[in-house]
Amino acid sequence: MISLPKLVGSLAFLMGTSLASPIVKRNGTRFDPADFVVAAVRAAPPQWSLPLINYTYGGMNLDATVAYAADLIQQASDDGVGLLAFPELYFPGYPKYLDANAFVPDLVDNSLSMDGPQWRQLVAAVQHAAIYVAIGFSESDGDKLYMSQALLSPEGDVLIHRRKLRPSGGERTIWSDGNVGGLEVVDTPYGRMGMLECWEHFHPSMTFNVQAQLEDIHIGAWPYTPNYNATGWAYWQTADVNLAAARTYAVNSGAVSVVPSIGKAVIFSAQGLVLTETPDAETRMSEEPFIYTSVNTTAFRRTAYNINGEESWGTLQQIVNSFPKGNPKAQGSFVLPKEIRVDDLLKAARNGSLYHD
Ligand SMILES: *[C@@H]1O[C@H](CO)[C@@H](O)[C@H](O)[C@H]1NC(C)=O
Ligand SMILES: *[C@@H]1O[C@H](CO)[C@@H](O)[C@H](O)[C@H]1NC(C)=O
Ligand SMILES: *[C@@H]1O[C@H](CO)[C@@H](O)[C@H](O)[C@H]1NC(C)=O
Ligand SMILES: *[C@@H]1O[C@H](CO)[C@@H](O)[C@H](O)[C@H]1NC(C)=O
Ligand SMILES: *[C@@H]1O[C@H](CO)[C@@H](O)[C@H](O)[C@H]1NC(C)=O
Repeated sequence: MISLPKLVGSLAFLMGTSLASPIVKRNGTRFDPADFVVAAVRAAPPQWSLPLINYTYGGMNLDATVAYAADLIQQASDDGVGLLAFPELYFPGYPKYLDANAFVPDLVDNSLSMDGPQWRQLVAAVQHAAIYVAIGFSESDGDKLYMSQALLSPEGDVLIHRRKLRPSGGERTIWSDGNVGGLEVVDTPYGRMGMLECWEHFHPSMTFNVQAQLEDIHIGAWPYTPNYNATGWAYWQTADVNLAAARTYAVNSGAVSVVPSIGKAVIFSAQGLVLTETPDAETRMSEEPFIYTSVNTTAFRRTAYNINGEESWGTLQQIVNSFPKGNPKAQGSFVLPKEIRVDDLLKAARNGSLYHD
């Protein structure tokens, strides 16, 4: 016998109006575990300069970004999405612009505080849509900024809140370092979920301990991604380099990997194969603001640790023990947490001495 939601879903499918069965909404338990739809945002936030390679600064507006994101969250929910993931620093838009002195004062004013009205608006949107939402945001906390990620439950509870452990390259002149406490994986009725952002995916100090917690669904947020083989980009911006890291992560973790990014978004299977991807990074952003795929979460392993795994205490000891004899066993300055005060950032921006690449 065909169930009503399935029938409605099939009709909606025939009419091309919906992604998945519109199952009756009842908090976090309404999704079909065999047909859990995960989605990755690829539309730019308001005022983010397009095309992708445009480095001219056109302003930032956190209020408009939150309003736009709230619309996307509701649209995703209406379409049957169970988890919607936003790109890195989507709030208020990754500042890819060349002149840091020009955008830093606006970035400070438009960063998201978890105590502020914009945060409450975002949580209200999540609760209304009643879906899982993963966000990337420039977080303002006290006198510092962080490159943060949060995973919100359909009830609007914060399941994960983390800060990029070591911002990459020029990011380190603006955002303070996060801490290792954020390398957490959480259990949900739809599998174990974890998250990292951008070049964290290259570094064992960030990947190892997350992978040791055996995710079923990984959110790997990047800020923006052009097409494969696109010209005019530095190597570290290319799809070729970044999606190689995301794909390797999927294989290594054995987790379905949702990779939101402005332009080109991809969702990899737990085996690292492409489940879905944006056909062209540069076009149809507002028409196709996110990509999605259905996942059978009843097939997940749902275990928290593999004592005999590639990412386990045993292999960690092996790495420590086999550390090259010729290299001094001394801690350099690299891992010391770097903190940047907003006051100093603003002073430097005012006298034009901020450099960021
Ligand atoms: C959803 O969850 C909230 C808080 O846990 C509860 O107050 C509310 O009654 C629930 N709604 C439904 C329709 O189950
Ligand atoms: C680049 O962005 C700026 C600022 O948003 C805008 O004024 C300009 O038109 C954009 N350039 C192109 C080629 O679209
Ligand atoms: C990438 O560009 C190079 C040089 O133009 C070309 O030889 C190669 O076939 C391209 N690869 C893809 C996957 O399009
Ligand atoms: C989902 O996975 C379970 C366990 O592997 C399997 O028994 C079931 O047939 C799958 N359902 C669908 C709809 O693919
Ligand atoms: C600009 O401000 C920064 C931060 O206060 C200070 O370290 C730097 O010396 C100043 N540079 C100039 C050229 O005034």
